[in-house]
Amino acid sequence: MTKKINLPPRTPSYQSILRIQRFMKNPIPFMNRNLHKYGDTYCFSLRYNKVNIITVDPDIIQHFLRKNENNYKKSVANNEVLGHFVGKGLLLATGERHAAHRKLMAPGFRPKSIGQLINFMDEQIDRYFLEMDQRIEKNPELIIDQEFSDLTFRVMTRAIYGDDMNQHEIAAFSDRFQNLQKMMIKLVRIPRLLKFYQMTGQTKFYEQVAKENNAYLNQLIAARRKQPPKEDLLGMLMSCRYEDTNEGMSDDQLREETLTLFVAGHETAANSLSWIFYLLGKHPEVIQKILAEREEIIGDQVPVFSKLLQLDYLNRVIDECLRIYPPSWITDRIAMEDDHINGFDIPKGARVIPFIYGLHHSEKCWPEAEKFDPDRFTKAGRKDRHNFAHLPFGAGPRMCIGRHFATLEMKMIILKMLKRYRFSLVEDHKVELLPLVTLKPANGVKLRFE
Ligand code: HEM
Repeated sequence: MTKKINLPPRTPSYQSILRIQRFMKNPIPFMNRNLHKYGDTYCFSLRYNKVNIITVDPDIIQHFLRKNENNYKKSVANNEVLGHFVGKGLLLATGERHAAHRKLMAPGFRPKSIGQLINFMDEQIDRYFLEMDQRIEKNPELIIDQEFSDLTFRVMTRAIYGDDMNQHEIAAFSDRFQNLQKMMIKLVRIPRLLKFYQMTGQTKFYEQVAKENNAYLNQLIAARRKQPPKEDLLGMLMSCRYEDTNEGMSDDQLREETLTLFVAGHETAANSLSWIFYLLGKHPEVIQKILAEREEIIGDQVPVFSKLLQLDYLNRVIDECLRIYPPSWITDRIAMEDDHINGFDIPKGARVIPFIYGLHHSEKCWPEAEKFDPDRFTKAGRKDRHNFAHLPFGAGPRMCIGRHFATLEMKMIILKMLKRYRFSLVEDHKVELLPLVTLKPANGVKLRFE
């Protein structure tokens, strides 16, 4: 007798929905509609993957990402094409290799270590704003997304490689990386295209760019080996040691891991800032509260790390922005063995999909979910809420290793920008969701500077 498998409710017509999606930029409304129709956990089939389970249930997500995480492996297949251009860093490692790498790198990403990067960030942000002033002078209306993309790239480069790159080298590195990123984004969305692009010679240019980039970084790392230890992220990673052998990373590993940080952390941070400034533009009263808190805690001093940690209201604003617009809006895992959770059977091989955007907009976790309200994150506001209701940085062993870096970077940029500029949203510029690899504002966010 065959055992009955109790799957979550199944959408009958997912194929047709997928067909429609191909013509639509934004699948989120379809996914939300299915959540209303079938409940917080539902299932759909694709030709090659019969069981795909989408969920916004925090209990079930906690089971997948934390409680029974050993049974759910991150599916890196779609991302494997990244390895072709930037090498295999933490993002692509699985199983024991991932655990060993993560343990090795963790000390470099603790708040105390990240706090040491503040001066690198500070200098780079000030320098960038001087250039932005000139653009604003020419045209006071700016699409802010490209600015944040350039700014966060430079801040990351400075924080990772310290003063090893001059401004000219940073610009050349940025050009090469942005070129590679264009190709990588296409391939992460449709990995099968790699073979086609290779056959038609379209990857040749990008392979050459990757080669030049690797040669440049190899040289930089080799030169660094001959210098006294530095306090940038590369320096921290160089000082990390494997527990069993007490050896550090090889030059190739250092190159791959530092490049991987850009892949994982550049677009996410830049998009977060675009969304944050969109929401601040809609809620100018929040800007006044951030500035008042800054005045009270930091005054006219240059912000030091310990003071930034005390900015409780700013923390709440960032948390609420990441709730409403989570850059990492979806993730997935593959079930290694049959499992069972909350009455549902999860067969071996099933793809489970925590739908983070849906979770962050679930009325069950977030009453009046569409309302922007930083006070949801006061101590009282957090009480009685599920621990897994807010997951902008994921959870479990693959939780974002760069979250303290990202938070410090965002805080520094927000504070400096609010102190320096007055701005408003350009009213007739429509902003919509564009959920690609990360959640972007379609058409960008347009600000008018005074
Ligand atoms: C606001 C900005 C950011 C957001 C929202 C974000 C979000 C995330 C999320 C959700 C994951 C886990 C994905 C999953 O479970 O499938 C992740 C992983 C990761 N993030 Fe971030 N991230 C941000 C910034 C950064 C930065 C600045 C860095 C680097 C300095 C970084 C480096 C990484 C790495 C290396 C991983 C892979 C970790 C692993 O697999 O062990 N992220 N990020």
